Amino acid sequence: MSEPRVRIGLAGCGVVGTGILQLLRDNADTIGARLGAPIEVVGIAVRDPSKVRDPLVPADLLVDDPMTMARHEDVDVVVEVMGGLDPAGAVVRTALEGGKHVVTANKALIAEAGEELLELAEERRVDLYFEAAVAGGIPIIRTLREALASDRIVALSGIVNGTSNYILSRMTSEGLDFGEALAEAQAAGYAEADPTLDINGGDARHKLAILATLAFGARVDVQAIPMEGIDVVSALDIAFAQRFGYVIKPLAIGRPTEDGSLDLRVHPALVPESSVLASIHGALNAVHIRGAMMGPALMSGPGAGALPTAMSVVSDIVDVGRNLLSGAHARVPSRAFRASTLQALPLRKPSEHRGRFYLRFDVHDRMGVLGRIANVLGGFGVSIEQMVQEGGRSAESPHATLVMLTHDALAGDVRGALEEIDRLRHTTGPSRALRIEDD
Ligand code: NAP
Ligand code: HSE
Repeated sequence: MSEPRVRIGLAGCGVVGTGILQLLRDNADTIGARLGAPIEVVGIAVRDPSKVRDPLVPADLLVDDPMTMARHEDVDVVVEVMGGLDPAGAVVRTALEGGKHVVTANKALIAEAGEELLELAEERRVDLYFEAAVAGGIPIIRTLREALASDRIVALSGIVNGTSNYILSRMTSEGLDFGEALAEAQAAGYAEADPTLDINGGDARHKLAILATLAFGARVDVQAIPMEGIDVVSALDIAFAQRFGYVIKPLAIGRPTEDGSLDLRVHPALVPESSVLASIHGALNAVHIRGAMMGPALMSGPGAGALPTAMSVVSDIVDVGRNLLSGAHARVPSRAFRASTLQALPLRKPSEHRGRFYLRFDVHDRMGVLGRIANVLGGFGVSIEQMVQEGGRSAESPHATLVMLTHDALAGDVRGALEEIDRLRHTTGPSRALRIEDD
């Protein structure tokens, strides 16, 4: 009888796929000792097999059709690291239908089509694991699924997109402009193939949808989660935030509310300089979880990059391999809850969010402008806690910038006030509002 092995087929071999090959080479002994069998790569699908690649990639295993991995008779586990919905979705579906286990790093796929794919996996009695899909190298999925299985999660918040955190960090610490910082994040392999998703909050929204299911047992329509990208943040906002003792961070926030809905949102926000999240720099991610019994806990680490992400993927392969070798399956539900208990909870409307806000108005520096703005804010019940004015009062500088921090206010009222202020013709550009998260 031949020695047991876990045979994998890679669908995709870019940043993460190449990291997987390096890790399998460098940690082969450790993995073998932990799993009790070696992991063997039997095929690799890429878009263009003729492309020049890292010498780690065995040219004789390359094919150009990822469906080959899903149908390969020697593959036990399909490892999907291509990204996107198409053809990744078809590859994963075909693999599961054929009784193969799947490990993926693809948050878009899990957030948008996970329900159908996970149910298919359950039906075919195979595993579909996705640790690398959220927060790269941080084992947050396994923590929610297993370590916190006895607790009720009452809130989670964090930084779950490395690229946007990297961009804001570099803009803050080095004064880089947005484009330069994005180019650096792309060169380091942090960004998605289409970085729009990193910048507009789409990638963080995918991750928050996955986390909300694991934390709160909720079926989540990812498109319904309100999101705002970091493209609304300017160097001016970063500098003003610093003057008030804050740092701007790209946040994802989830918590059940008292009325039975879920408050899920993705947006940049001001956090106090002294807070833990303010110290999460560059491509680092952090997820803060509050359990009803455990209390608060923070996990932080690399949220993107070849080796941290590959580590999460390969740990999933080890888990699947352990199941394969012991003949176990679905002992732990992939989404932490039994599928029949997952609930479709309503999401709280963005306008119902209550909190403090940072407001910036670029205005004509004329008598009475400040009074009018304050009046409109007051009319909407938005009260000002602190304010600074800069510029103006000279022929060379006829414009001024007003920045205000508010007391607690309803987001819908803040939006209504800003729309009215922008109609007054005292402003020289659209007014800005960013949330302040003090917790
Ligand atoms: P990548 O560097 O762009 O690599 C994608 C790979 O998939 C490439 O090898 C590409 O082939 C192949 N591919 C794409 N479309 C294909 C098709 N239609 N047929 C065959 N092969 C195809 O992407 P990545 O950064 O490794 O990311 C992969 C996945 O991991 C994504 O879901 C991403 O969201 C996720 N992820 C990435 C990170 C990270 O830090 N990069 C972290 C966590 C999760 P070619 O090589 O020929 O172009
Ligand atoms: N583009 C993603 C990020 C990769 O920057 O966080 C990790 O999921």
